[in-house]
Order: sequence, then structure tokens, then C-alpha cells
Amino acid sequence: MRWPTKNLGKERARKMANINAGVLSTGRAFPEGVLTNADLEMMVDTSDDWITTRTGIKQRHKAGEGEYTSLFAVRAARQAIERARIDPSEVDLLICATVTPDQLLPATACLIQAELGAHRAAAFDLVAACSGFIYGVTLANQMIRAKQARYALVIGAEILTRYVDYTDRTTCVIFGDGAGAAILGPVESERGILAARIRSDGRFAEQLHATGGGTRLGTTAQTLNSGLHFYKMRGNELFKVAVRSMTDISLEVLKEANLTPDDIHLFVPHQANQRITEAVADKLGVDSSRVFSNIAMHGNTSSASIPIALDECVETERLHDRDLVLMTSFGGGATWGAVLMRW
Ligand code: ACO
Repeated sequence: MRWPTKNLGKERARKMANINAGVLSTGRAFPEGVLTNADLEMMVDTSDDWITTRTGIKQRHKAGEGEYTSLFAVRAARQAIERARIDPSEVDLLICATVTPDQLLPATACLIQAELGAHRAAAFDLVAACSGFIYGVTLANQMIRAKQARYALVIGAEILTRYVDYTDRTTCVIFGDGAGAAILGPVESERGILAARIRSDGRFAEQLHATGGGTRLGTTAQTLNSGLHFYKMRGNELFKVAVRSMTDISLEVLKEANLTPDDIHLFVPHQANQRITEAVADKLGVDSSRVFSNIAMHGNTSSASIPIALDECVETERLHDRDLVLMTSFGGGATWGAVLMRW
């Protein structure tokens, strides 16, 4: 894999009044364990046909005992750091987007920081469900542009299968585990992030939630027996909101950059459901040759899905120098966002 040298020299970046932030490199990692549709057929009342036609998913990764979120986050981050040809000590900002942290305290980002040796970074977790990576990139963009950070490491990492109830067929077929990471840094002003927007609406909170384990209900024998720490999702209610929100915010960032869907070389949406991807692409008028999808192999990996997708796009040479890339996401909260980037 060849990584373009988009990274600006320190002196040049310092002198430039208006710098853009861009993705300099990416990485990804998965647990070895895989759960296929055939495996799920033996666990709940479902079928390969239903899962494939309703979601596009064929398999998803599943962490084994002793595996945890930061393990994969660190692996993905190390790849991204090496490919950006920087030292971990040069990372100023480390954001770990996750809804499945290693532990309650401290932030998984701090555990990753220690493991990487990124000791100069400000490290924190970001909870925005499937939109976590887009939220993280949006914040990193502002920090780099404001010269508060030179290199930012944005990670999306999840072990969702720990919070999946394998008796609930409406959720257990969808979620998978994995991690993706990106190093962002200063790039020439005509490339990098051209526009980024994030939004949320807490009125949708109950459509996708896990109520057990927090300060409201705590962790008791009753919350555990009732499975309240598992994700509950009213997927069909979120479906329409997801399509509408991702379409609208994608059009907003395009408008802000004075561009149209025709200008997009590659559309990389959050991999929630193949039907959602197709509906958004259809509404935007982006034909299937310009849409990236890997949901068949990984399922919905929440905040990890877009950085994993970007890394696969680079590896398979779907992304070329100066391509216009549109990324958009929608997740529990509800949260959503879009980032438009000149690669
Ligand atoms: N196997 C077989 N049948 C099933 C399964 C299954 N795994 N799951 C549900 N069904 C049944 C339902 O019981 C229902 O049966 P009924 O008609 O007899 O009542 C029927 O299939 C249709 O159910 P719907 O929920 O309407 O199915 P839908 O086509 O909406 O697909 C899905 C469900 C895949 C969850 C879809 O709604 C979806 O992807 N929603 C979006 C989810 C999303 O975007 N979430 C936010 C991001 S994720 C995050 O933030 C972590």
C-alpha cells in the first residue's frame, strides 16, 4: 500500500495563515473470531436470507474472552501512526470514539495513549455512537486549523458484541466488533476537510439505548437479570430518520463547499444497513459505482465503521490522490454528521 506524502513540513504549516486538516493515514484491526449468518441461524429464529436481504450482512467479527476495545484500537492506531511516518510522541490530540469502553474509568483513550506512548496528547473518549468518528474528525479539524494540535489521532473502536443479547434477533444479527484509526494533520489549503457538520437530537434516545449500568439504574441483580445492559433498538423507527438525516447533512456540507453530488468520487457512509446506504445514495443521486460498502463482511461496527471503510478504500485503491470523498453517519442519540474531504 502506498501512502501519499500530503503531510506539510512543520515550518511551512506554521507560516501558512489558513491550513486545512486532512487524513494523512489510516489503520484497522479486528478480532479473529467471526460469526456468520449460518451461526446465527442456530442461535435465534432467523435466516441467512432475511439477514442478507434486510441488512446486506453475511458475517461480523466477534471478540473472544480476554479481548477488549483498546486492544484493537491500539493495533489500528499503530498502523496509522507508522503510515503517517510520525512518532507517537508527536500526537497532540487522541480521540477514541466508542460506546463500548474498556472500563468505566479512565477513558479508553488514556489507556490507548499509555500503550502507544503518545504521552504529549490530550486524550479523551467521545460518545456519539455510530457518528463518533465523524464527530471526532470534526473536532480534530477545528483543533488543527486553530493550530491547537498538529497531529490528531482519531479512533473508532467497538466491542459491540458484549452488549448484544443473543436471544434478540432484531439486534444480534446487526452488530460486529472492530477498530479503525486515522491520523489527521495539516495539508495544503485546497485539500483535506472542505466542510464538516455534526448534529444530534436526544428526543430519539429511546430508539437505541442500554439503560443498565449507569447512575440512573446502577448495576443490580435485577438490571442484569432483565438484560438492561444490552442494546435495545427500534430499528424500523430509526431507519427513516437515518436516511433523511444523512441525506440532508450530506447536502449541507456539499452546499457549504459549493459542490454537488456529481462531484463526489467516493461516498463512504456509515455501514448501518445496506438498504440505508442505497436509499441515501439514491436520494443524493450518487450511482452505485461511487458508493463504498463492506457491511457484508463486518456488519455494523458503530464508530469504527467509517475509519475501517477508509482503510479498506486505500488498500483496494478505491481512493486516489485528490478524490472528493463524502462521509456521513447516523447513530444512537440520535447523532449524525457529514465530512467532505479532498483526499
Ligand atoms: N430474522 C428474521 N426476522 C426478523 C429479524 C431477524 N433477525 N429481525 C426482525 N425480524 C422480523 C420482525 O420481527 C418483523 O416481523 P413481523 O412483521 O412479523 O412483526 C419483521 O422482521 C420486520 O421487522 P422490522 O424491524 O420492520 O425490519 P426492518 O426491515 O426495519 O429491518 C433493521 C430491521 C435491520 C434493524 C432495520 O430497521 C435497520 O437497519 N434500522 C436502522 C438501524 C440504525 O440505523 N441504527 C442506528 C445506527 S446503530 C448505532 O448507533 C450503534
